Amino acid sequence: MRSIGEVFLTHLSCTACGRRHEWSQLQNLCSVCAKPLFANYDLAGVGRALTREALATREKSLWRYREVLPLPLDEEPVSLGEGGTPLLHAARFGASLGLANLWVKDEAQNPTQSFKARGMAVAVSMAKYLGATKLAVPTAGNAGGALAAYAARAGLEAHIFMPRDTPRANVIECRELGAHVTLIDGLITDCAAEIARRKTAEGWFDLSTLKEPYRVEGKKTLGYELAEQMDWELPDVILYPTGGGTGLIGMWKAFDEMEALGWIGAKRPRMFSVQAEGCAPIVRAFEAGAISAVEFPDARTCASGLRVPKAIGDFLMLRILRESNGGALAVDDEEMMRTTREVGPKEGLFVAPEGAACFAALRTLGASGNIASNDQIVIFNTGSGIKYLECYEP
Ligand SMILES: Cc1ncc(COP(=O)(O)O)c(C=O)c1O
Ligand SMILES: [Zn+2]
Repeated sequence: MRSIGEVFLTHLSCTACGRRHEWSQLQNLCSVCAKPLFANYDLAGVGRALTREALATREKSLWRYREVLPLPLDEEPVSLGEGGTPLLHAARFGASLGLANLWVKDEAQNPTQSFKARGMAVAVSMAKYLGATKLAVPTAGNAGGALAAYAARAGLEAHIFMPRDTPRANVIECRELGAHVTLIDGLITDCAAEIARRKTAEGWFDLSTLKEPYRVEGKKTLGYELAEQMDWELPDVILYPTGGGTGLIGMWKAFDEMEALGWIGAKRPRMFSVQAEGCAPIVRAFEAGAISAVEFPDARTCASGLRVPKAIGDFLMLRILRESNGGALAVDDEEMMRTTREVGPKEGLFVAPEGAACFAALRTLGASGNIASNDQIVIFNTGSGIKYLECYEP
């Protein structure tokens, strides 16, 4: 085995039972309880090697946080320039709701036009480093496009399983990037089951979100960037469009790491998970006071990224929403479309329906007195409306 270059990653630990796992071989779920694994770092060592101030001179991509990412420092990442997205003041939309401090983190400006690039850049870099050659993923759409791009960049095979009614842009993008695409009559959960059934025989490494430990590491950089862009003072409220929940879970992990590093204090934003009326398992579980979510029946919404009827990280999301004194809200598709058409002219952003759902949810939060006019509020626009043309011209 080749020697491992300098790295602050120490081990993986199970988010449910705490069992320790080695990071130096390919890993999926906990071998004891089949729950997600998290990466652990020598944060004292990171703190000695890196200061907040030193970040300012580094490249504008998520790799500027290199010491808190899992890839050994002397390895070249598989990169297309992901991360470093702008945090934009949504002054006009905010004013229409009486909110002076509304901000949008515009993740449509990533490679392949969505925040899925963050997770895939880090996960594909690690999978390649640890010797995987064939990568497989079930996807609602955007994660497929991102995997196709990063696998191509890495010189690895991508096997992508999508529901047949995934937006056409995602399907065409994956094919044109050279991925093997299989369309499934069903939902993302059916795509995942197909991969699980075939992966051993085919020699695929399963990159399903939270079923390997490093997509969440890429997504956590949303939290690092946000803190840095807000001068190390986290906002009061975050709205995040939630499917598998990897971004929400990743940001929360980043906040804890940054507090341990002494980069931020103990204050946390109130985290709100936004889902579609037609697929709202987390909203239902939150309202029921449950610690995990029941599979949502007959899931449907044009916000394909939110069409996730069952998420393996449900218990982590629900814990974060409650610990942060946040919540969970559902928005119907018509309202998402209407809101897209309002955000565009006001802010110059053609947001994905998932992003629009968060803008729409603000109205509900405002009306119920859940947010104050001077709160610092951040919305994640996780993708681009360009990938969802069917929603506008069926
Ligand atoms: C545009 C968009 N927003 C949000 C999501 C949900 O992301 P997460 O799995 O991090 O909850 C997805 C997932 O496919 C997506 O494509
Ligand atoms: Zn476990």
